Amino acid sequence: MIDIDQYLEEKRNIVNLALKKRLPQSGPPKILDAMNYSLEAGGKRLRPILTLAVADTLGYKSNAILDPACALEFVHTYSLIHDDLPAMDNSDLRRGKPTCHRVYGDAVAVLAGDALLTHAFEILSRYGQKEGYAEKSVKIIAELSSASGVTGMIGGQILDLESEGKALTFDQVERLSVMKTGALLRAAVVCGAIASDASSEQLKILGSYAGDIGTAFQITDDLLDLEGSREELGKPVGADQERYKPTYPSVLGPENARKKAVMLYEQAVISISTLDQPAELLIELAKKLIFRNK
Ligand code: IPE
Ligand code: IPE
Ligand code: MG
Ligand code: MG
Ligand code: MG
Repeated sequence: MIDIDQYLEEKRNIVNLALKKRLPQSGPPKILDAMNYSLEAGGKRLRPILTLAVADTLGYKSNAILDPACALEFVHTYSLIHDDLPAMDNSDLRRGKPTCHRVYGDAVAVLAGDALLTHAFEILSRYGQKEGYAEKSVKIIAELSSASGVTGMIGGQILDLESEGKALTFDQVERLSVMKTGALLRAAVVCGAIASDASSEQLKILGSYAGDIGTAFQITDDLLDLEGSREELGKPVGADQERYKPTYPSVLGPENARKKAVMLYEQAVISISTLDQPAELLIELAKKLIFRNK
């Protein structure tokens, strides 16, 4: 039986060290400070941990996996800095600390986000320069860029902005969530699989597991915005209602949104159980991701 809390703690420490090591070491101090501020503020590190958990599940041992894992967290942190800007969700608290733009101003926060995004792809290109890693890195870059771009996170963010004050259908909310949040979580799993030399059958199974947990993750995020606590979450609550954003709980009602998350979890368990490797770790991780209170 896996002690998932211990696993999360152990991997979070490894990821934190790896991130620190991979931040740019030189450049104008202001931008380095702002990047470091948002990265160091904390965060659950669920995306890089998913990447590492896929490697552990597939029996892949090399520390090179930390490059794609960190790239995922750089992209995710950038997305949060921009998501909080006054022109977007206008949020003052993130990861328990004042948001990047509140401390450094809007212009620096925009640039810190840009720099983290660009840096993620520098890390991946350097990973590809290691002997034997070129092909994998190109595949990972393709995966991460499409998950972050207009077919993924950015596409979802624009749909999210356009949805403010509108009555969306369930299908529209689902599409928006799959793009803005699901895509990057799915990429965390798929990039872990590519880096670990997964077979095409394994990739297919992991991709379908990841699609389900990615969607369920946003349902939980929406429910926590409604029912969670600011202290525990380290970000404001009630923000979606304040901005009249259509969410899973707003279109389905909280109870049905919760049921939908449970159903997606069960579906993820069914897919991952068909993997040719023991999947307990990924099942426990899915549980943590979906049934969380922060
Ligand atoms: C929050 O992501 C934003 C969404 C995509 C829903 P997380 O809940 O993973 O945030 P951190 O990384 O722990 O701060
Ligand atoms: C954010 O969705 C998704 C991103 C791409 C950053 P939210 O706007 O719901 O995330 P929180 O609630 O601010 O963390
Ligand atoms: Mg948002
Ligand atoms: Mg937001
Ligand atoms: Mg939210």
